[in-house]
Amino acid sequence: MSKRWIMIGILDSGIGGLRAARELLDRVPDADLIYFGDTARSPYGVKHGDTIRRNASEGLKFLLAAGATIICIPCSDISGAGFDLPDGLPRRSIIDAVSAGTHAALALPQLNRIGIIGTPATIASHAFERALAAAKPGARVYANPCPLIVPLVEAGRLTKPETFRIIKNCVSPLKRRRVDTLILACSHFAVLRRTIQRKIGKRVFLVDAAEAAVADTATRISGSPGAVSRGKTSRFVVTDRSEYVEHAARILFGGPVALELAPIPPIRSETSPPEAS
Ligand code: DGL
Repeated sequence: MSKRWIMIGILDSGIGGLRAARELLDRVPDADLIYFGDTARSPYGVKHGDTIRRNASEGLKFLLAAGATIICIPCSDISGAGFDLPDGLPRRSIIDAVSAGTHAALALPQLNRIGIIGTPATIASHAFERALAAAKPGARVYANPCPLIVPLVEAGRLTKPETFRIIKNCVSPLKRRRVDTLILACSHFAVLRRTIQRKIGKRVFLVDAAEAAVADTATRISGSPGAVSRGKTSRFVVTDRSEYVEHAARILFGGPVALELAPIPPIRSETSPPEAS
């Protein structure tokens, strides 16, 4: 059987996807991995979909140029806004949080009243609602934007009373709707999963869209005949590397992580103004 080199690319708005990277490395320990986090332009969660799409398309080109052969997008902002497919990258080589999260939710036994929490951009994209409506037309879907969770996680305030209060406020409207399933549509929410479960109630199934994208990517690789890595290389490339970013990266990755600064701009977009000569 002929061998096929596999390099996993992870595309994220910033550092939230580092948790997904950690999980992927746990599941596929000998993977070659390249991470791209657009920390210079994040958070994407408060941006217009067109801006997210433009930035994400540049990130995809960067990953492709760096050798990625399969790309995992744990970021719901990007998955919801969409992206332009660069030449040479088939759509089936991209596994995104909206498709994977919806797929994971559909596998649950009691999917009738579904809640979604995410950033304002993800909720405004209505991407999860569209995917769920197509696959399960009778289901009731309720979404609530939670803009404060990302900065709280990045600041490491995981067990502070204000964080508990904000999560309670965020899930309360969905609790009142008596949802049976809650989709965590943001790369940052997994680190607060236990708190979210406590606040929404233990009978509600939680589906982490980022984790679903990781699981699908790992399954795709293990089911790919002849797939081999060149040898456990991991690169974590970001477009800004401030002290804040370094600190938050450690929180999301769950330990030290060597961040590499991307060449700026990582890929020149067609719409960039020409350089002054
Ligand atoms: N990565 C984003 C997501 O999963 C959260 C952070 C941001 O908004 O940039 O939606």
